Amino acid sequence: MIPVRVHAGEREWSLGELELPLELSEFVPGPRRWEVELGFGKGAYLLRRAADEAEETAFLGVEIVSKYYRLVRDRAHKRGLSNVVLMRGEALYLLSAALPSGFARAVHVYHPDPWPKSRHNKRRLFDVESVDLLFGLLEPGGSLCFATDHAEYGERVAEVLESHGGLEVERLTDRWPDGPRTHYEAKFVAAGTPIVRLRAAPRAVRAALHPAGADGVLAATSVRE
Ligand SMILES: C[S@@+](CC[C@H](N)C(=O)[O-])C[C@H]1O[C@@H](n2cnc3c(N)ncnc32)[C@H](O)[C@@H]1O
Repeated sequence: MIPVRVHAGEREWSLGELELPLELSEFVPGPRRWEVELGFGKGAYLLRRAADEAEETAFLGVEIVSKYYRLVRDRAHKRGLSNVVLMRGEALYLLSAALPSGFARAVHVYHPDPWPKSRHNKRRLFDVESVDLLFGLLEPGGSLCFATDHAEYGERVAEVLESHGGLEVERLTDRWPDGPRTHYEAKFVAAGTPIVRLRAAPRAVRAALHPAGADGVLAATSVRE
């Protein structure tokens, strides 16, 4: 098994050298919006957004394949991107063991491996067991963007999200407003392959108001001699 690596700025760590859950502001200081991409591949989307929003947004990317991790790490370094944290490791493991919760404005999952054979379905990054883990990354008001060229997997993910109960789910009929976001998307758009694009956000939980109002509740529940 290859050890998890974490890269930010000019430095690289193994997970064992860091305190968990990771304190992301130690890698990219300052009040910033955070976004996460899981399975970033060649990193086109993450690197473009990081360059365009260097001052206001920080990006955390997770990728299991060392070759892609190193490619994107070296590109981020060459481009002087100090608002990028990259992790080489398995996304669901890192979500459950290393990452904080409730910090991301957006989570991006584009063209994850579909594992089409039913005996391999359990390897899918996105399924009923992982959905709460993925949404646990989001801060209030945050949302998940998902796309796949694999129609059956796309329908499965839509079904998982729609049957969750706590999510507002939107199936996008148009392309992303910023054009194809990743290498896979560009390739499938050029080939005319239909793409399932979904956006989902946890429903805002509205606190029920007591009919007596806050003062009435306080008076009714205050300790009496
Ligand atoms: C089909 S490629 C898509 C890459 C990129 N998102 C794109 O759209 O061009 C899927 C990517 O997800 C990565 N990946 C697959 N399973 C993963 C997992 N469990 N954790 C982290 N990365 C994963 C793969 O190594 C690969 O780079």
